Formats: sequence, structure tokens, C-alpha cells
Amino acid sequence: MSDLSIEQSINDKFASQSKKGQGESEAFLAAFRERRTYYQISKNAAIPDSRVEEIVKFAIKHVPSSFNGQMTRAVILFNDDHDEFWNTTAKIMSAMLSEEQMKQTQQRLDGFKAGHGTVLFFDDESVIRQQQEAFKLYADNFPVWANQANGMAQLVVWTALEKEGFGCSLQHYNPLVDAAVQEKWKVPVDWKLLAQMPFGVPTGEPGPRDYKPLNERVWAIGKKE
Ligand SMILES: Cc1cc2nc3c(=O)[nH]c(=O)nc-3n(C[C@H](O)[C@H](O)[C@H](O)COP(=O)(O)O)c2cc1C
Repeated sequence: MSDLSIEQSINDKFASQSKKGQGESEAFLAAFRERRTYYQISKNAAIPDSRVEEIVKFAIKHVPSSFNGQMTRAVILFNDDHDEFWNTTAKIMSAMLSEEQMKQTQQRLDGFKAGHGTVLFFDDESVIRQQQEAFKLYADNFPVWANQANGMAQLVVWTALEKEGFGCSLQHYNPLVDAAVQEKWKVPVDWKLLAQMPFGVPTGEPGPRDYKPLNERVWAIGKKE
């Protein structure tokens, strides 16, 4: 029995028709294609905060991880806590940048703060250390694999929140903000901050995106049809 109501609702909607076959990936692929970077976002909520929480928990639960170590962690900051994160980031950045540089940065940060919430993604390094001790042969790989699993979780949250009507972007003010985050939200020191995903109902469209030729990026070898 799951403690996520979104699991039940997915079961109700899709269990009887959990089809596998040609074409059945298209709804998934469409959602994935629609995911974009939105910098213009608002405080409006597309869905209740509790549903955002469910979606993030769902992603964290179902995304795979190396040796099933489940080392990805997330903290969702809503409302005043979201504002506080971006105010704190601005304070830290302004102590490091010239007044001129800060003008541009402040604009960017104000854009993120204009959103409804921010998901912080972490790797739990205590799990990585346990894995390194248990499997010495792969010791160097575990932090990399943890990062890869974290990126997978980021993509799922990003795509799902957009499907629910939010726009998101992916930011990296770590490690500058790590200590402040640990102190303010009592995040364990073993949780290493990797990314920040501000989200809010979009007030503008994403910019254009170009694509490199796929034949230079993907080789299909030995295919028959
Ligand atoms: C691993 C990774 C790191 C990224 N880091 C940043 C970042 O620090 N700041 C930012 O504004 N966008 C960041 N992005 C967003 C990319 O610039 C963006 O996804 C890319 O240009 C494609 O545009 P799209 O997201 O609209 O499809 C990152 C994306 C990825 C996948």
C-alpha cells in the first residue's frame, strides 16, 4: 500500500490499460518534448502545494539509482521559504560581485524569486560512502552514479511540474549557498546540494532552442528495419 495518493490515482486511471506496444510511449515522449526552461514565472499555483510534494516524492521514489542506493534527496521550498532562499542567494552573491555585475545577477534572481516555489536537489553522501565501503571496486563511480540518478529525478520533476501547468528552470548556486541552506532549513550536512529548480505559473514563453544534427549524436548500428 502506497502512502502517495497520486499512486492510487495513477492506478485508477491507468492500471486497467497499462498497455505496452508500439506507440504507447508517445504520451510520455510528448511530455518530455514539451519540457522547456521557463525564466518568466509567477507566484500563482497551478496545483496545490501538497500535489507538488506528491509529485516530487513520486519522482524520488520511482527514479532508479545505482545499486538501488536511493541517495537522492529533495527539499521543496514554498511561499516565504522560497522567497527567503532567493533573498539569501542574492545576499551571498552581492558580497562576491561588483555592483555592476550584481545588477544583472539581481535581475536573474528576482526572476526566480517571482516564482511559487523551488525544489532543491541533493545527494546524500552518507549513502555514497556506505556504497564505497561495501563495493571498493567501484568506489570512484558512486558519486558519479549518484549525480546521474539525481539528474534523472530532476528531469522527472521538471517534466511533471510542467505537465501540471508550471514552468521551471534549473539553477546552480551551490556550493555558494550550501551553508546557508543547511543552517536555515536544518538540512543534514551529508546532503550535498546539486541543483535548484524554481517553478511558477509561466508569464512568458521559453526562448528558441536549436538542435544539432542527430546523426552526429546517435549512431544506430546493425539495424534491420
Ligand atoms: C545539467 C544541466 C544544467 C543546467 N544548468 C543551468 C543553469 O545553471 N542555469 C540555467 O539557467 N539553466 C541551466 N540549464 C538549462 C539549460 O540551459 C537548458 O535546459 C537548455 O538550454 C535547453 O533548453 P530547454 O530547457 O528550454 O529545452 C541546465 C540544464 C541541464 C540539463
